[in-house]
Amino acid sequence: MNYKKNLNLFVLIFSIGIASFSQSLVVNDLSTEYKTDPIGIDVNRPRLAWKIESDVRNVMQTAYQVKVAFSKSDLMSDNELVWNSGKVTTDKSVQVVFDGKNLESRKRYYWTAKVWDNMDNSSDWSEPAFWEMGLLKADEWVANWIQPDIEEDITKSEPSPYLRKDFKLKGDIKKARVYISSFGLYEAEINGKKVGDQLFTPGWTSYNNRLQYQVYDVLELLESGKNAIGVVLGDGWYRGNLGWADRKNVYGEDLALIAQLEITYSNGKVERIVSDESWKCATGPIVMSDIYNGEIYDSRLEKPGWSSSGYKDKDWSGVKLVDRPKDKLVAAIGPPVRKIQEINPISIIKSPLGETIIDMGQNMVGWVRLKVQGPEGTIVTLLHAEVLDKEGNFYIDNLRSAKQMLQYTLNGKGQEVYEPNFTFQGFRYVKVEGFPGELSLDNITGVVIHSDFAITGTFACSNPLLNQLQHNIQWGQKGNFLDVPTDCPQRDERMGWTGDAQVFSRAASFNADVAAFYTKWLKDMEADQLENGSIPHVIPNVLGKNSVSSAGWADASTIIPWNMYLVYGDKRILDEQYSSMANWVSFMTTVAGEDHLWNKGSHFGDWLFYRPNDDNSGMSAVTDKYLIAQSFYIHSTEILRNSARILGKEDDVEKYDELLKEIKQAYLNEYVTPNGRLISSTQTAYVLALEFDLLPENVRKRAAERLVENIGIYKDHITTGFLGTPYLCDVLTEYGYVDVAYKLLLQESYPSWLYPVKMGATTIWERWDGIKPDSTFQTPNMNSFNHYAYGAIGDWMYKNIVGIDLDENDPGYKNILIKPTPGGEITNAEGEYESYYGTIKSGWKIEGGKIVIDVSIPVNTKARVKLPKAHLSEVSESGNKLETIKYMISKQSNEDVIIELGSGNFKFEYPYKLEQ
Ligand code: BGC
Repeated sequence: MNYKKNLNLFVLIFSIGIASFSQSLVVNDLSTEYKTDPIGIDVNRPRLAWKIESDVRNVMQTAYQVKVAFSKSDLMSDNELVWNSGKVTTDKSVQVVFDGKNLESRKRYYWTAKVWDNMDNSSDWSEPAFWEMGLLKADEWVANWIQPDIEEDITKSEPSPYLRKDFKLKGDIKKARVYISSFGLYEAEINGKKVGDQLFTPGWTSYNNRLQYQVYDVLELLESGKNAIGVVLGDGWYRGNLGWADRKNVYGEDLALIAQLEITYSNGKVERIVSDESWKCATGPIVMSDIYNGEIYDSRLEKPGWSSSGYKDKDWSGVKLVDRPKDKLVAAIGPPVRKIQEINPISIIKSPLGETIIDMGQNMVGWVRLKVQGPEGTIVTLLHAEVLDKEGNFYIDNLRSAKQMLQYTLNGKGQEVYEPNFTFQGFRYVKVEGFPGELSLDNITGVVIHSDFAITGTFACSNPLLNQLQHNIQWGQKGNFLDVPTDCPQRDERMGWTGDAQVFSRAASFNADVAAFYTKWLKDMEADQLENGSIPHVIPNVLGKNSVSSAGWADASTIIPWNMYLVYGDKRILDEQYSSMANWVSFMTTVAGEDHLWNKGSHFGDWLFYRPNDDNSGMSAVTDKYLIAQSFYIHSTEILRNSARILGKEDDVEKYDELLKEIKQAYLNEYVTPNGRLISSTQTAYVLALEFDLLPENVRKRAAERLVENIGIYKDHITTGFLGTPYLCDVLTEYGYVDVAYKLLLQESYPSWLYPVKMGATTIWERWDGIKPDSTFQTPNMNSFNHYAYGAIGDWMYKNIVGIDLDENDPGYKNILIKPTPGGEITNAEGEYESYYGTIKSGWKIEGGKIVIDVSIPVNTKARVKLPKAHLSEVSESGNKLETIKYMISKQSNEDVIIELGSGNFKFEYPYKLEQ
């Protein structure tokens, strides 16, 4: 807190010193509920944020004003404002809660912001941004739920139904929106053009509790006079195969559609074209589609012009009106899935078995676009695999029952281009069968799809293996952020495994803006939480009510909201998830009973920890499952207590403080000797004890030593599974063993992060030894090559190698910690993180006996910069001696120099010896 006082003082000194400079202060990058100009939200009090730019240092916002109106011109002329905040004295520029008149369905709200700063400057009003409301009440859905009236055998994947309707416009129109959702997946077209660019809509949620709808602006797609709308449906998660063991029709047996096209004519009259019994239906070229198995597409069955007016649908069937709930319809929250990038293959391989295999050069998720020409009726089959086997043949055993197959039948009418609709594959290699003529690289293009999050992080350093590791982490995220955070994208799982999601959530938040993505998923978690507080293993829960409550998995319910609070300063997520968090803790408390030990039930434990083949070697790093359970029980309770404090729930703070004392004591009694030795002598046991603060002060140092000794026993190898891995290097760094952390990180032999990199991985593997040193595989039952969990180390790499971190006491990067920590013979590193306030940069280079550290801090934030191994008298900043710069507070702290500063770009330089 002293630090804050000091900072205020230096802000004052600096302001006086610099006030005479002329400067520009600009407000930009306005966002609403974490999105730029969202259409179709249903948040009654949306949160607004903006970024501020200035060309001088040390700028803090001192006040803001926000105006909201129904049009840009009203905004400019202050006419009929929906909200005028007036000048509010505060440094708050993110998570600003709209506090105007009640928001109305369908209305678009334009807004602008203006700020004042500590230099006595004020900005102009920003460029206006907007948000648009969806349908806030169930009875505003005048459209009906309709269902294709065709015969289906729901025991297998049936052809996709196409639904259509002609309509006529009676004059000029000024506004047109489609509000649309489905049970199953939908893709809509108007007059032959796709509506929007989203994929896998309406997304995957706890369908029986929350079904998302999307809103599209379709003004541009409409024509005067005759028009048509068409929608094709796919089985998707709703009734396709989902989960192993032949699970199908998990949510229901029948696909259904609700669509409401609202047209506003120039004279203000509104007309609605809605899904009703007048729609027609037929099947078409999508003969089969399934998330896991792929798609069979017969282009001879295409119905050209089916979504345009004038199409002859006389022989089409009708539709049935069905009674499905409208009160479960909710506006979409997360970023939509889109086509994000394309990849060209790098080679065509002829395998020893004679297979023709295309190598995309990257394990990717999405599909390939096929370009082909040949005789009618030719069938081209594309099979997808992540790896080739030791001999170089196509390997699909690890996909288990997932077929990952695209099959395209040519119509023979010239050049044909095919992309699938309702399926995705996880693959690097594509086996091509039945291709007419000579296959060339031009025939195949990789289409990468994922939730369209904004990329927020960059990382690069002098060690190419670490750069590849970071690349693999990012691709693991791309591949497994497909509307829900999945374990893997290829075998018959692809589900929202909670444990995987929680261990990766901090690293994920460096790479990309994941606030809205997790906000959505957490709502499904709450929806699927059991009455007794248990949290299912996967969210949305498709495994049933007995697959619940594993330690470290279910704790995603506390850990992820907390991480979102830390990264985005998002108190609302804590508030909205609070009862879910509390119910989870209460479940553990009930099960633990009087002795306060949560030592019942089945748990995954430290999943996939190091276990050599020869289990008698005594080297298997098994951590007692109930020790782990108690550790997470305490951790979740602590998060809940801290959340209660932040939300001002004083009674709960007291209650959970009490509980914490009891369950920590129970942990000590049961699992720790008086000298701090844990009953499980594993890296994970010690890491959890130290990271979650479970041990008395007097034995912590010794426990850290034991951890390091254990790492020594394994000759600097990591032995942790999913639960210990995320915190291992953090704990080592915290307790002064950054050198050991680097040794583990840079270890190239199994088990280690770089072993897969050395083996040619382009994504993070599920297991430390998915491919063994002799090039044979781990068991096909569980061997994904695209599982992000072990990529959790990305968090440590950003925080320590690049050196960008946050201050838990002033979260959301309002107070930034810059702490580059050279080691491992790395000579330079640089990275950026796009925070809600703007770009944070940290980069360092050791050369010629000195280190140069470049730092950028966005306006309206502060930073504490730690210069490693520096002497105050030897440090310069942008050529000036640090000691002489009055507006930065610097001090020597043991080996380091600590500087407190405000916004701006800084260049520090001082003598530095690279340790060998
Ligand atoms: C998934 C994991 C998951 C685990 C539970 C696996 O099949 O792929 O990543 O966390 O089951 O132990």
